[in-house]
Amino acid sequence: MDFPVFPAGFVWGTATAAYQIEGAVGEGGRGPSIWDTFSHTPGKTAHGDTGDVACDHFHRYGQDIGLMKDLGVSAYRFSVAWPRIQPDGKGPANVEGLDFYQRLVDELGDAGITPYLTLYHWDLPQALEDAGGWRVRDTAERFGEYAAIVHAALSDRVPMWTTLNEPYCSAFIGYAEGRHAPGAQEGHGALAAAHHLLVGHGLAVQAMRAQQYGDEKFGITLNMNHVRAATDSPQDKAAAVRAELLQNRVFSDPLLAGRWPVAEQEVWSPISDFSFRQDGDLEIVAQPLDFFGVNNYMPQYAKHAPSADTDLTQRVATDIGVWDNPPAELSRTAMGWPTEADGLRRLLTWLAAEYPQLPPVYITENGSAYVDTVDSAGAVDDPERVAYLDTHLRAVRQAIEEGVDVRGYFCWSLMDNFEWGYGYSKRFGLVYVDYETQARIPKSSYHWFHQVITR
Ligand code: NOJ
Repeated sequence: MDFPVFPAGFVWGTATAAYQIEGAVGEGGRGPSIWDTFSHTPGKTAHGDTGDVACDHFHRYGQDIGLMKDLGVSAYRFSVAWPRIQPDGKGPANVEGLDFYQRLVDELGDAGITPYLTLYHWDLPQALEDAGGWRVRDTAERFGEYAAIVHAALSDRVPMWTTLNEPYCSAFIGYAEGRHAPGAQEGHGALAAAHHLLVGHGLAVQAMRAQQYGDEKFGITLNMNHVRAATDSPQDKAAAVRAELLQNRVFSDPLLAGRWPVAEQEVWSPISDFSFRQDGDLEIVAQPLDFFGVNNYMPQYAKHAPSADTDLTQRVATDIGVWDNPPAELSRTAMGWPTEADGLRRLLTWLAAEYPQLPPVYITENGSAYVDTVDSAGAVDDPERVAYLDTHLRAVRQAIEEGVDVRGYFCWSLMDNFEWGYGYSKRFGLVYVDYETQARIPKSSYHWFHQVITR
């Protein structure tokens, strides 16, 4: 197979998240999360889809581990559902919930697959949302306690610990755009959510490091895009600065440079006084990280767009006068996302140049949705996904060549699953899932990825 060689020890994996695959929402003492509430609210997800059953992974995890073993990956990135561990977000651990992840991690170990555990992939216990959710500091403190519970139970078998997955989405899609749970549309509240997610991350790292078991590593995963101005006009260049603030720097500046982003006052002072910040917060947030997770799917081309003609103070936090305007010649995935593998290379070299403190990087998600169908022979042929993964992996290899310390790549996703507001209408998997029968059918991209890994 004609494919570039990656450095020895490079980690190959696949990724999933609890609410997207587990199902069994009423089993094992699990409490409700904001995604149960949101997906059961009419009009919030495509076709009213919910995660009630999803891929039934809660019962079929053994089979799914078998698929990964045959695929040949050495690592699996999954998330723990907070409401399985603390059904209402606080207090002692629900033993049945911990048991599930203990069994999962043990079977992964038997299969020779290293678990990469994420503590929070968006399924906040509903009881905490009822008390203010990420808008309030108390949630960050509860998150630190939850992290300590999970870490104490699993640190002997899990070497890689990620606090949050894509806090951008939790804060801005959840509390400003309202397309994700809890479905709020706010200015100050969304910025407060971003801040408390960061504080929660820092408290979790502190709590876990305080009980360090062995050599386990601590990090976080951000969804980042390489941002460019759509044209050379001064207006578009200014739009790109705002887009880079919202998309990347809100999180990466405090985490990796120990500073609040320079542009935040100019962009957001009309909607927030940042009064949620307390003395000492920056030190909590900027805990040294052992690794840095990057999720990337597309580039971003920022174009100036006048904001809606509303009272400034009424604006949601994502209304920053920017449109995405990618070059028309870029192809699109089934999500409508523009495809440009070099955007991933540019992002990685930007990160390394921008942040001298950048720890080793893992691509914790990259992948694409296309319209996949089962043919008459019962197979799923997905050449577009193969092309997407091929070009993006070459871009990662190029970034390594250019000096970025990238240690691993996790394909999103092991199998088709609940794609949040899109329900089951978008398929990202290497494995096709027939939701009627729960049959799993490895796609041609699965066989291609197997060759890449084992060549
Ligand atoms: C980001 C998220 O972490 C994951 O949950 C989602 O399914 C994929 N990207 C695709 O949108």
